[in-house]
Amino acid sequence: MSNGGGTAPLLTPYRMGRFDLSHRVVLAPLTRERSFGNVPQPHAILYYQQRASKGGLLIAEATGISDTAQGVAARNAIEAGFDGVEIHGAHGYLIDQFLKDQVNDRTDKYGGSLENRCQFALEVVQAVVDEIGADKVGIRLSPFASYSESSDSNPEALGLYMANALNKFGILYCHMVEPRMVKLGEKFETPYSLRPIRDAFNGTFIVAGGYNREDGNKAVSTGYADLVAYGRLFLSNPDLPRRFEIDAPLNEYNRETFYISDPVIGYTDYPFLPSDV
Ligand SMILES: Cc1cc2nc3c(=O)[nH]c(=O)nc-3n(C[C@H](O)[C@H](O)[C@H](O)COP(=O)(O)O)c2cc1C
Repeated sequence: MSNGGGTAPLLTPYRMGRFDLSHRVVLAPLTRERSFGNVPQPHAILYYQQRASKGGLLIAEATGISDTAQGVAARNAIEAGFDGVEIHGAHGYLIDQFLKDQVNDRTDKYGGSLENRCQFALEVVQAVVDEIGADKVGIRLSPFASYSESSDSNPEALGLYMANALNKFGILYCHMVEPRMVKLGEKFETPYSLRPIRDAFNGTFIVAGGYNREDGNKAVSTGYADLVAYGRLFLSNPDLPRRFEIDAPLNEYNRETFYISDPVIGYTDYPFLPSDV
């Protein structure tokens, strides 16, 4: 190995609940828009297969659910063979809109105080936990982000409140987006850190947002995170854990093809390292 002899912290094993992970390089959830008629196609199998590794955690793209589905969508996922379900509470989607005081203008029991704004998210967690069990449930949150005008005047208090409230469920993990990712794809300088929130949460803590090999290793070695999720680098490097292991050069990602619907281009055509490396 070219990292000075020792195993890179990202490549060390980690036990998450009943899952034995062999490394800590996680695929972040990435909307890909390659399904036709809302039905995943055979090329999706290839895409995820390319990014799979023994003992690696892949978080798949989001699935839209019916407004009357309750926990059924989660049960269907488990019946279809997924190991767990990540509740999407980040990035301006419905749950995030309840959480954030700059966009939640409700006057009922889901609006106003921090406690009220978090109520909907916690009810969703409860419904999914009731359906499939806390040991299969994770949640993604982005208290510091302001996508689709969904921002909060006190994101640290929001993150801390959620971490403490989530502790009561004993869920599998909390996955949080870094304060520097205020907008998608852009890193901002920020005095904030997820550290206090990480310290408040009792379970596995996953971080995401702007990570490379070096700061991912540092996040793990300093106990800042248990696992690190990679979006754009994993999208463009199907063998990212292996590349991090040997500190190999990375493919660059092409933003132009992030959201196109082609079944191959920008999806399954990013090259692997030659097999003899
Ligand atoms: C093509 C693309 C699609 C994404 N889709 C989602 C999504 O559906 N849900 C989500 O929470 N984040 C989404 N993200 C954000 C990523 O999960 C991740 O948090 C972000 O890219 C920052 O991590 P990175 O610097 O490792 O790429 C997306 C990012 C990209 C580039």
